[in-house]
Amino acid sequence: MSIEKPVRFFASPGGTLSGRLRVPGDKSISHRSIMLGSLAIGETRISGFLEGGDSLATLAAFRAMGVNIDGPDAGRVRIQGVGLKGLKAPADALYLGNSGTSMRLMSGLLAGQSFDTTLTGDVSLSGRPMLRVVQPLISMGARIDTQAGGTAPLEIHGTAELAGIDYSMPVASAQVKSCILLAGLYASGTSCVTEPAPTRDHTERMLAGMGYPVQRQPGRVCIEGGHTLNGIEIDIPADISSAAFFLVGASIAPGSELLLEHVGVNPARTGIIEILQRMGADIEVSNERDVGGEPVADLQVRSAPLHGIDIPAELVPLAIDEFPVIFIAAACAQGRTVLTGAEELRVKESDRIQVMADGLQTLGINATATPDGMIIEGGALGSGCVDSHGDHRIAMAFSVAALRARGEIEILNCANVNTSFPGFVELAGDAGLLIDVR
Ligand code: S3P
Repeated sequence: MSIEKPVRFFASPGGTLSGRLRVPGDKSISHRSIMLGSLAIGETRISGFLEGGDSLATLAAFRAMGVNIDGPDAGRVRIQGVGLKGLKAPADALYLGNSGTSMRLMSGLLAGQSFDTTLTGDVSLSGRPMLRVVQPLISMGARIDTQAGGTAPLEIHGTAELAGIDYSMPVASAQVKSCILLAGLYASGTSCVTEPAPTRDHTERMLAGMGYPVQRQPGRVCIEGGHTLNGIEIDIPADISSAAFFLVGASIAPGSELLLEHVGVNPARTGIIEILQRMGADIEVSNERDVGGEPVADLQVRSAPLHGIDIPAELVPLAIDEFPVIFIAAACAQGRTVLTGAEELRVKESDRIQVMADGLQTLGINATATPDGMIIEGGALGSGCVDSHGDHRIAMAFSVAALRARGEIEILNCANVNTSFPGFVELAGDAGLLIDVR
Protein backbone atom coordinates (compact mmCIF):
# COMPACT_ATOMS: atom_id res chain seq x y z
CA MET A 1 0.00 0.00 0.00
CA SER A 2 1.21 3.52 -0.63
CA ILE A 3 -0.26 6.96 -0.07
CA GLU A 4 -0.66 7.44 -3.85
CA LYS A 5 -3.34 4.73 -4.05
CA PRO A 6 -6.47 5.88 -2.20
CA VAL A 7 -7.62 3.18 0.20
CA ARG A 8 -10.97 3.43 1.98
CA PHE A 9 -12.03 1.46 5.04
CA PHE A 10 -15.70 0.65 5.67
CA ALA A 11 -15.99 -0.36 9.32
CA SER A 12 -19.17 -2.25 10.22
CA PRO A 13 -21.06 -1.10 13.31
CA GLY A 14 -21.22 -3.12 16.50
CA GLY A 15 -19.44 -6.33 17.48
CA THR A 16 -17.39 -7.65 20.33
CA LEU A 17 -13.63 -8.19 20.60
CA SER A 18 -12.39 -11.47 21.98
CA GLY A 19 -9.47 -13.90 21.93
CA ARG A 20 -5.72 -13.43 22.29
CA LEU A 21 -3.52 -11.60 19.88
CA ARG A 22 -0.02 -10.29 19.39
CA VAL A 23 0.16 -6.99 17.52
CA PRO A 24 3.25 -6.25 15.36
CA GLY A 25 6.62 -5.18 16.75
CA ASP A 26 7.37 -1.83 18.34
CA LYS A 27 8.04 0.84 15.73
CA SER A 28 10.41 2.95 17.83
CA ILE A 29 12.53 -0.05 18.83
CA SER A 30 12.51 -1.43 15.25
CA HIS A 31 14.02 1.82 13.90
CA ARG A 32 16.70 1.87 16.58
CA SER A 33 17.58 -1.81 16.06
CA ILE A 34 18.45 -1.12 12.40
CA MET A 35 20.37 2.10 13.13
CA LEU A 36 22.42 0.83 16.06
CA GLY A 37 22.80 -2.69 14.61
CA SER A 38 24.28 -1.11 11.47
CA LEU A 39 26.75 0.97 13.51
CA ALA A 40 27.80 -1.93 15.74
CA ILE A 41 30.75 -4.25 15.32
CA GLY A 42 29.64 -7.79 14.48
CA GLU A 43 26.25 -9.30 13.86
CA THR A 44 22.94 -8.10 15.31
CA ARG A 45 20.04 -10.57 15.14
CA ILE A 46 16.58 -9.11 15.49
CA SER A 47 13.26 -10.88 16.02
CA GLY A 48 9.83 -9.24 16.18
CA PHE A 49 10.89 -6.50 13.71
CA LEU A 50 7.99 -4.35 12.48
CA GLU A 51 7.61 -4.95 8.73
CA GLY A 52 5.77 -1.66 8.26
CA GLY A 53 6.52 1.19 5.87
CA ASP A 54 8.31 3.38 8.42
CA SER A 55 10.82 0.87 9.78
CA LEU A 56 11.34 -0.58 6.28
CA ALA A 57 12.29 2.93 5.14
CA THR A 58 15.03 2.99 7.78
CA LEU A 59 16.18 -0.50 6.75
CA ALA A 60 16.36 0.51 3.07
CA ALA A 61 18.33 3.65 3.95
CA PHE A 62 21.05 1.66 5.76
CA ARG A 63 21.21 -0.85 2.92
CA ALA A 64 21.72 2.11 0.59
CA MET A 65 24.67 3.11 2.80
CA GLY A 66 26.34 -0.26 2.23
CA VAL A 67 25.15 -2.27 5.23
CA ASN A 68 24.51 -5.95 4.60
CA ILE A 69 21.04 -6.69 6.01
CA ASP A 70 19.20 -10.04 5.60
CA GLY A 71 15.43 -10.04 5.89
CA PRO A 72 12.99 -9.14 7.14
CA ASP A 73 11.60 -12.64 7.12
CA ALA A 74 8.68 -13.16 9.52
CA GLY A 75 10.10 -10.41 11.73
CA ARG A 76 13.67 -11.74 11.64
CA VAL A 77 16.50 -9.49 10.47
CA ARG A 78 20.27 -10.07 10.51
CA ILE A 79 22.60 -7.12 10.24
CA GLN A 80 26.35 -7.29 9.62
CA GLY A 81 27.36 -4.15 11.49
CA VAL A 82 29.95 -1.93 9.83
CA GLY A 83 31.07 -0.02 12.94
CA LEU A 84 30.62 3.68 13.63
CA LYS A 85 32.89 4.70 10.75
CA GLY A 86 31.82 2.06 8.22
CA LEU A 87 28.82 3.60 6.42
CA LYS A 88 29.27 4.49 2.75
CA ALA A 89 27.85 7.41 0.77
CA PRO A 90 24.48 6.43 -0.75
CA ALA A 91 24.13 6.78 -4.52
CA ASP A 92 20.92 8.83 -4.24
CA ALA A 93 18.85 10.83 -1.79
CA LEU A 94 17.44 8.68 1.03
CA TYR A 95 13.63 8.56 0.77
CA LEU A 96 12.06 8.07 4.20
CA GLY A 97 8.38 8.01 3.25
CA ASN A 98 6.08 9.04 6.12
CA SER A 99 8.62 8.41 8.87
CA GLY A 100 9.50 11.30 11.19
CA THR A 101 11.51 8.99 13.43
CA SER A 102 13.75 7.93 10.54
CA MET A 103 14.40 11.50 9.46
CA ARG A 104 14.99 13.04 12.90
CA LEU A 105 17.18 10.25 14.28
CA MET A 106 19.18 9.78 11.10
CA SER A 107 19.91 13.52 10.85
CA GLY A 108 21.99 13.17 14.01
CA LEU A 109 24.06 10.22 12.97
CA LEU A 110 24.50 11.44 9.39
CA ALA A 111 25.78 14.83 10.58
CA GLY A 112 28.96 13.08 11.73
CA GLN A 113 29.74 11.05 8.57
CA SER A 114 32.54 11.61 6.09
CA PHE A 115 30.00 12.05 3.25
CA ASP A 116 26.96 14.15 2.40
CA THR A 117 23.35 12.92 2.32
CA THR A 118 19.96 14.25 1.30
CA LEU A 119 16.89 13.12 3.23
CA THR A 120 13.46 13.30 1.59
CA GLY A 121 9.96 12.14 2.49
CA ASP A 122 6.30 12.14 1.46
CA VAL A 123 4.04 15.19 1.54
CA SER A 124 3.26 14.80 5.27
CA LEU A 125 6.90 14.34 6.31
CA SER A 126 7.96 17.24 4.06
CA GLY A 127 5.67 19.54 6.05
CA ARG A 128 6.86 18.53 9.53
CA PRO A 129 9.16 20.72 11.65
CA MET A 130 12.83 19.75 11.40
CA LEU A 131 14.44 22.80 13.04
CA ARG A 132 13.92 21.11 16.40
CA VAL A 133 16.75 18.74 15.42
CA VAL A 134 18.63 20.93 12.97
CA GLN A 135 19.20 23.82 15.40
CA PRO A 136 20.87 21.79 18.20
CA LEU A 137 22.86 19.86 15.58
CA ILE A 138 24.13 23.15 14.13
CA SER A 139 25.21 24.17 17.64
CA MET A 140 27.27 20.96 17.66
CA GLY A 141 28.98 22.06 14.44
CA ALA A 142 26.76 20.23 11.94
CA ARG A 143 26.20 21.65 8.47
CA ILE A 144 22.59 21.09 7.38
CA ASP A 145 20.42 22.94 4.86
CA THR A 146 16.63 22.79 5.14
CA GLN A 147 13.90 24.22 2.92
CA ALA A 148 12.48 27.64 3.78
CA GLY A 149 10.30 26.98 6.81
CA GLY A 150 12.74 24.48 8.29
CA THR A 151 11.36 21.43 6.52
CA ALA A 152 12.71 18.53 4.43
CA PRO A 153 14.37 17.79 2.08
CA LEU A 154 17.39 18.08 4.37
CA GLU A 155 20.88 18.37 2.91
CA ILE A 156 23.36 17.09 5.43
CA HIS A 157 27.02 17.89 4.82
CA GLY A 158 28.94 15.38 6.91
CA THR A 159 31.75 16.68 9.11
CA ALA A 160 34.35 15.25 11.47
CA GLU A 161 34.16 18.44 13.56
CA LEU A 162 31.09 17.76 15.75
CA ALA A 163 31.52 18.84 19.36
CA GLY A 164 29.52 17.81 22.43
CA ILE A 165 26.64 19.97 23.59
CA ASP A 166 24.64 20.41 26.80
CA TYR A 167 21.11 20.78 25.46
CA SER A 168 17.92 21.54 27.33
CA MET A 169 15.02 20.49 25.10
CA PRO A 170 12.18 23.02 24.80
CA VAL A 171 9.73 20.19 23.90
CA ALA A 172 9.55 16.71 25.41
CA SER A 173 10.66 14.75 22.33
CA ALA A 174 12.36 11.37 22.23
CA GLN A 175 13.20 11.99 18.59
CA VAL A 176 15.15 15.15 19.40
CA LYS A 177 16.87 13.51 22.38
CA SER A 178 17.83 10.46 20.30
CA CYS A 179 19.06 12.61 17.42
CA ILE A 180 21.50 14.42 19.72
CA LEU A 181 22.66 11.17 21.33
CA LEU A 182 23.34 9.66 17.90
CA ALA A 183 25.29 12.78 16.86
CA GLY A 184 27.05 12.51 20.23
CA LEU A 185 28.52 9.14 19.17
CA TYR A 186 30.56 11.12 16.62
CA ALA A 187 31.23 14.28 18.64
CA SER A 188 34.33 15.22 20.59
CA GLY A 189 33.70 15.39 24.33
CA THR A 190 30.37 14.77 26.02
CA SER A 191 26.84 15.46 24.77
CA CYS A 192 24.07 15.84 27.34
CA VAL A 193 20.31 16.24 26.92
CA THR A 194 17.91 17.43 29.63
CA GLU A 195 14.23 16.75 29.01
CA PRO A 196 11.30 18.81 30.36
CA ALA A 197 9.30 15.59 30.97
CA PRO A 198 10.19 11.89 30.64
CA THR A 199 10.16 10.58 27.05
CA ARG A 200 10.73 7.08 25.68
CA ASP A 201 14.26 5.90 26.40
CA HIS A 202 14.66 3.07 23.89
CA THR A 203 17.82 4.65 22.44
CA GLU A 204 19.53 4.85 25.82
CA ARG A 205 18.54 1.27 26.69
CA MET A 206 19.76 -0.14 23.37
CA LEU A 207 23.04 1.81 23.45
CA ALA A 208 23.71 0.43 26.94
CA GLY A 209 22.68 -3.08 25.81
CA MET A 210 25.29 -2.86 23.03
CA GLY A 211 27.96 -1.98 25.57
CA TYR A 212 28.14 1.77 24.91
CA PRO A 213 28.65 3.83 28.10
CA VAL A 214 25.61 6.03 28.81
CA GLN A 215 25.30 8.21 31.92
CA ARG A 216 21.72 8.57 33.09
CA GLN A 217 20.11 10.63 35.84
CA PRO A 218 16.39 11.40 36.14
CA GLY A 219 15.52 13.74 33.26
CA ARG A 220 19.06 13.86 31.89
CA VAL A 221 21.31 11.67 29.76
CA CYS A 222 24.94 12.11 28.69
CA ILE A 223 27.10 10.26 26.19
CA GLU A 224 30.75 10.59 25.23
CA GLY A 225 31.88 10.17 21.63
CA GLY A 226 34.34 7.60 20.39
CA HIS A 227 33.33 4.34 22.11
CA THR A 228 32.11 1.26 20.22
CA LEU A 229 28.84 -0.64 19.90
CA ASN A 230 28.76 -4.43 19.86
CA GLY A 231 26.21 -6.46 17.89
CA ILE A 232 23.60 -8.25 20.04
CA GLU A 233 20.35 -10.21 19.86
CA ILE A 234 17.24 -8.02 20.05
CA ASP A 235 13.74 -9.43 20.71
CA ILE A 236 11.35 -6.58 19.87
CA PRO A 237 8.12 -6.60 21.90
CA ALA A 238 4.68 -5.88 20.43
CA ASP A 239 4.00 -2.16 20.04
CA ILE A 240 1.85 -0.70 22.84
CA SER A 241 0.87 2.06 20.39
CA SER A 242 -0.73 -0.62 18.17
CA ALA A 243 -2.13 -2.53 21.15
CA ALA A 244 -3.84 0.75 22.14
CA PHE A 245 -6.50 0.34 19.41
CA PHE A 246 -7.53 -2.97 20.95
CA LEU A 247 -7.34 -1.68 24.53
CA VAL A 248 -9.88 0.99 23.60
CA GLY A 249 -11.89 -1.29 21.28
CA ALA A 250 -12.37 -3.98 23.93
CA SER A 251 -13.15 -1.34 26.58
CA ILE A 252 -15.97 0.28 24.54
CA ALA A 253 -17.48 -2.83 22.87
CA PRO A 254 -19.83 -4.49 25.39
CA GLY A 255 -19.07 -8.13 26.18
CA SER A 256 -15.43 -7.94 25.04
CA GLU A 257 -12.53 -9.81 26.62
CA LEU A 258 -9.14 -9.75 24.95
CA LEU A 259 -5.59 -10.77 25.85
CA LEU A 260 -2.80 -8.79 24.21
CA GLU A 261 0.44 -10.75 24.41
CA HIS A 262 4.09 -9.72 24.81
CA VAL A 263 3.43 -5.97 24.78
CA GLY A 264 6.26 -3.51 25.49
CA VAL A 265 5.43 -1.66 28.71
CA ASN A 266 8.36 0.74 28.97
CA PRO A 267 7.24 3.22 31.66
CA ALA A 268 7.59 6.11 29.18
CA ARG A 269 4.96 4.42 26.96
CA THR A 270 2.24 3.27 29.39
CA GLY A 271 0.26 6.52 29.60
CA ILE A 272 -2.52 4.85 27.58
CA ILE A 273 -3.06 2.24 30.30
CA GLU A 274 -3.11 4.83 33.06
CA ILE A 275 -5.47 7.19 31.18
CA LEU A 276 -7.91 4.39 30.33
CA GLN A 277 -7.82 3.05 33.89
CA ARG A 278 -8.61 6.54 35.21
CA MET A 279 -11.61 6.54 32.84
CA GLY A 280 -12.80 3.28 34.40
CA ALA A 281 -11.28 0.72 32.01
CA ASP A 282 -10.71 -2.85 33.19
CA ILE A 283 -7.09 -3.59 32.18
CA GLU A 284 -4.88 -6.09 33.98
CA VAL A 285 -1.13 -6.11 33.47
CA SER A 286 0.34 -9.57 34.09
CA ASN A 287 3.42 -11.70 33.52
CA GLU A 288 5.74 -8.67 33.65
CA ARG A 289 9.24 -9.57 32.52
CA ASP A 290 12.43 -8.03 31.15
CA VAL A 291 13.21 -8.83 27.52
CA GLY A 292 16.65 -7.62 26.48
CA GLY A 293 16.47 -4.53 28.70
CA GLU A 294 12.86 -3.55 27.85
CA PRO A 295 9.89 -4.35 30.14
CA VAL A 296 7.24 -6.59 28.55
CA ALA A 297 3.85 -7.83 29.83
CA ASP A 298 0.53 -9.37 28.79
CA LEU A 299 -2.49 -7.07 28.91
CA GLN A 300 -5.97 -8.42 29.64
CA VAL A 301 -8.81 -6.04 28.83
CA ARG A 302 -12.54 -6.45 29.47
CA SER A 303 -15.29 -4.02 28.46
CA ALA A 304 -16.28 -1.53 31.15
CA PRO A 305 -18.31 1.67 31.38
CA LEU A 306 -15.98 4.64 30.85
CA HIS A 307 -16.35 8.13 32.28
CA GLY A 308 -14.80 11.42 31.15
CA ILE A 309 -11.72 12.83 32.93
CA ASP A 310 -9.35 15.78 32.86
CA ILE A 311 -6.25 14.14 31.43
CA PRO A 312 -3.28 15.04 33.66
CA ALA A 313 -0.65 17.02 31.73
CA GLU A 314 2.17 14.77 32.97
CA LEU A 315 0.60 11.80 31.16
CA VAL A 316 0.64 13.55 27.76
CA PRO A 317 4.22 12.63 26.67
CA LEU A 318 3.67 9.07 27.96
CA ALA A 319 0.71 8.59 25.60
CA ILE A 320 1.66 10.99 22.82
CA ASP A 321 0.83 8.63 19.91
CA GLU A 322 -2.36 7.26 21.47
CA PHE A 323 -4.56 10.38 21.54
CA PRO A 324 -6.52 9.63 18.36
CA VAL A 325 -7.88 6.45 19.94
CA ILE A 326 -8.13 8.05 23.42
CA PHE A 327 -10.47 10.61 21.81
CA ILE A 328 -12.65 7.69 20.65
CA ALA A 329 -12.71 6.34 24.22
CA ALA A 330 -13.73 9.83 25.39
CA ALA A 331 -16.52 9.98 22.80
CA CYS A 332 -17.89 6.71 24.23
CA ALA A 333 -17.48 7.78 27.87
CA GLN A 334 -20.10 9.31 30.10
CA GLY A 335 -19.45 13.02 30.63
CA ARG A 336 -16.69 15.37 29.57
CA THR A 337 -13.03 14.64 28.81
CA VAL A 338 -10.58 17.54 28.65
CA LEU A 339 -7.10 17.35 27.16
CA THR A 340 -4.65 20.25 27.53
CA GLY A 341 -0.89 20.63 27.08
CA ALA A 342 -0.85 18.55 23.90
CA GLU A 343 0.00 21.12 21.19
CA GLU A 344 2.53 18.59 19.82
CA LEU A 345 -0.43 16.68 18.37
CA ARG A 346 -0.79 19.43 15.78
CA VAL A 347 2.58 18.52 14.17
CA LYS A 348 2.29 14.73 13.98
CA GLU A 349 1.58 12.83 10.73
CA SER A 350 -1.46 15.15 10.52
CA ASP A 351 -2.88 17.86 12.78
CA ARG A 352 -4.36 15.25 15.09
CA ILE A 353 -6.39 17.77 17.09
CA GLN A 354 -8.20 19.26 14.09
CA VAL A 355 -8.57 16.07 12.08
CA MET A 356 -9.98 14.11 15.03
CA ALA A 357 -12.33 16.95 16.07
CA ASP A 358 -13.66 17.17 12.49
CA GLY A 359 -14.23 13.41 12.28
CA LEU A 360 -15.91 13.19 15.69
CA GLN A 361 -18.24 16.06 14.78
CA THR A 362 -19.17 14.27 11.55
CA LEU A 363 -20.16 11.29 13.69
CA GLY A 364 -22.36 13.46 15.90
CA ILE A 365 -20.04 13.97 18.87
CA ASN A 366 -19.65 17.35 20.54
CA ALA A 367 -15.86 17.75 20.20
CA THR A 368 -14.16 21.15 20.42
CA ALA A 369 -10.59 21.59 19.25
CA THR A 370 -8.50 23.94 21.41
CA PRO A 371 -4.99 25.22 20.61
CA ASP A 372 -3.40 22.55 22.80
CA GLY A 373 -6.00 19.82 23.11
CA MET A 374 -9.68 18.98 22.92
CA ILE A 375 -12.91 19.02 24.92
CA ILE A 376 -15.12 16.02 24.21
CA GLU A 377 -18.62 15.38 25.55
CA GLY A 378 -19.34 11.66 25.53
CA GLY A 379 -22.36 10.76 23.41
CA ALA A 380 -23.79 8.44 20.80
CA LEU A 381 -21.61 7.77 17.75
CA GLY A 382 -23.60 7.91 14.53
CA SER A 383 -22.35 6.94 11.09
CA GLY A 384 -20.74 8.81 8.22
CA CYS A 385 -17.63 9.45 6.19
CA VAL A 386 -14.47 10.78 7.89
CA ASP A 387 -11.09 11.66 6.38
CA SER A 388 -7.95 10.32 8.09
CA HIS A 389 -5.80 12.70 5.99
CA GLY A 390 -3.35 9.86 5.40
CA ASP A 391 -2.69 9.52 9.14
CA HIS A 392 -2.38 5.84 10.08
CA ARG A 393 -3.40 6.26 13.71
CA ILE A 394 -6.49 8.31 12.82
CA ALA A 395 -7.63 5.70 10.28
CA MET A 396 -7.33 2.95 12.93
CA ALA A 397 -8.96 5.07 15.64
CA PHE A 398 -12.10 5.65 13.56
CA SER A 399 -12.16 1.95 12.63
CA VAL A 400 -12.35 1.12 16.34
CA ALA A 401 -15.10 3.73 16.83
CA ALA A 402 -17.40 1.59 14.65
CA LEU A 403 -17.66 -0.93 17.50
CA ARG A 404 -19.98 1.57 19.22
CA ALA A 405 -21.44 3.37 16.20
CA ARG A 406 -25.06 3.20 15.05
CA GLY A 407 -24.07 2.71 11.42
CA GLU A 408 -21.12 2.09 9.11
CA ILE A 409 -18.11 4.41 9.28
CA GLU A 410 -16.37 5.13 5.97
CA ILE A 411 -12.75 6.28 6.42
CA LEU A 412 -10.81 7.94 3.61
CA ASN A 413 -7.05 7.78 2.89
CA CYS A 414 -6.14 4.70 4.90
CA ALA A 415 -3.13 3.44 2.89
CA ASN A 416 -0.68 4.63 5.54
CA VAL A 417 -2.04 2.18 8.13
CA ASN A 418 0.69 0.01 6.68
CA THR A 419 3.40 2.36 7.99
CA SER A 420 2.93 1.18 11.58
CA PHE A 421 0.45 -1.71 11.56
CA PRO A 422 0.66 -4.06 8.56
CA GLY A 423 -2.14 -6.63 8.83
CA PHE A 424 -4.36 -4.38 10.96
CA VAL A 425 -7.53 -5.19 9.02
CA GLU A 426 -6.94 -8.95 9.21
CA LEU A 427 -5.99 -8.97 12.90
CA ALA A 428 -8.92 -6.71 13.78
CA GLY A 429 -11.18 -9.07 11.80
CA ASP A 430 -9.89 -12.09 13.77
CA ALA A 431 -10.71 -10.27 17.01
CA GLY A 432 -14.22 -9.28 15.86
CA LEU A 433 -13.98 -5.85 14.18
CA LEU A 434 -15.19 -6.07 10.59
CA ILE A 435 -13.50 -3.71 8.10
CA ASP A 436 -14.02 -3.87 4.37
CA VAL A 437 -11.16 -2.37 2.31
CA ARG A 438 -12.01 -0.76 -1.05
C1 S3P B 1 9.13 8.56 18.66
C2 S3P B 1 8.91 9.68 19.45
C3 S3P B 1 7.65 10.44 19.43
C4 S3P B 1 6.51 9.64 18.81
C5 S3P B 1 6.94 8.99 17.52
C6 S3P B 1 8.08 8.02 17.77
C7 S3P B 1 10.42 7.87 18.73
O1 S3P B 1 7.83 11.62 18.67
O2 S3P B 1 5.41 10.50 18.57
O3 S3P B 1 5.85 8.27 16.96
O4 S3P B 1 10.52 6.73 18.23
O5 S3P B 1 11.38 8.45 19.27
P1 S3P B 1 8.35 13.01 19.33
O6 S3P B 1 9.78 12.82 19.67
O7 S3P B 1 8.14 14.04 18.26
O8 S3P B 1 7.48 13.23 20.53
